[in-house]
Amino acid sequence: MSAQLIDGKAVAAQVQHRVQQAVTERVAAGHRPPALATILVGVDPASEIYVRNKRRSCEAVGIRSVPQQFDASISEAALLAEIDRLNADNGVDGILVQLPLPKHIDTTVVIERIRPDKDVDGFHPYNLGRLAQRLPALRPCTPFGVIELLKSAGETFYGRQAVVVGASNHVGRPMALELLLAGATTTVTHRFTRDLAAEVARAEILVVGVGKPGLVRGEWIQPGATVIDIGINRLANGSLAGDVEFAAARERAAWITPVPGGVGPMTVAMLMQNTLTAAERRGS
Ligand code: GUN
Repeated sequence: MSAQLIDGKAVAAQVQHRVQQAVTERVAAGHRPPALATILVGVDPASEIYVRNKRRSCEAVGIRSVPQQFDASISEAALLAEIDRLNADNGVDGILVQLPLPKHIDTTVVIERIRPDKDVDGFHPYNLGRLAQRLPALRPCTPFGVIELLKSAGETFYGRQAVVVGASNHVGRPMALELLLAGATTTVTHRFTRDLAAEVARAEILVVGVGKPGLVRGEWIQPGATVIDIGINRLANGSLAGDVEFAAARERAAWITPVPGGVGPMTVAMLMQNTLTAAERRGS
């Protein structure tokens, strides 16, 4: 068996198209376009690429992009003052602070300073708490995008065995909450898990987000499983690889995401969706 590919670029384009149509309708009804402020601190090359993609997507769907760029030496207090200013700006619907931040800035303090109703990354404890309570508000973009990808592959969720590999705050934990919300029986594995192979082998839905190339071996995959690989790792030869041994996993899975072209484009598409949602909820 060779798994069918889940085409993240195509599903992301559908989401972006839906957002673009909704933005056009809102503007035709007399609203201003939604606006997203993206804050980039310092010159991390990967962050620069991610933020550029986010800003370009805004333009493509009719969202006003409000780019904010700061030197790596900006103090935490000055960054918090910028967030306060954007929080108070009625012309801004969403605020995104690209991570990682320089070491002298406390990421938790920064995330918690963003107004929850403008937290389009869905990282604020309010938004994570709402997801945990089955009352989602703004949902973390990558896990939200994974759910859309799974739906595109015909996934029904209810009663299915889902395994999330990786328990990070921004990916694994909210991913588990999304799968629980969707009705899957959900297991989370992490660095202290005793037998990762055995946990992976139980998965009908497997979602991996760790950042270690080839961590999940193809032979562990349950035949017929759906495999979502969130990892994006740059190898020594310059190519990109996920956390799952792709070729071997594809021989056993029914559906699998490629890297690149799987989850990556969905994160940006769901950010556009969240910015639209924030604007709709604020009535702006
Ligand atoms: N850095 C890597 N991924 C992300 C993301 O989804 N949001 C933010 N804010 N920073 C990131």
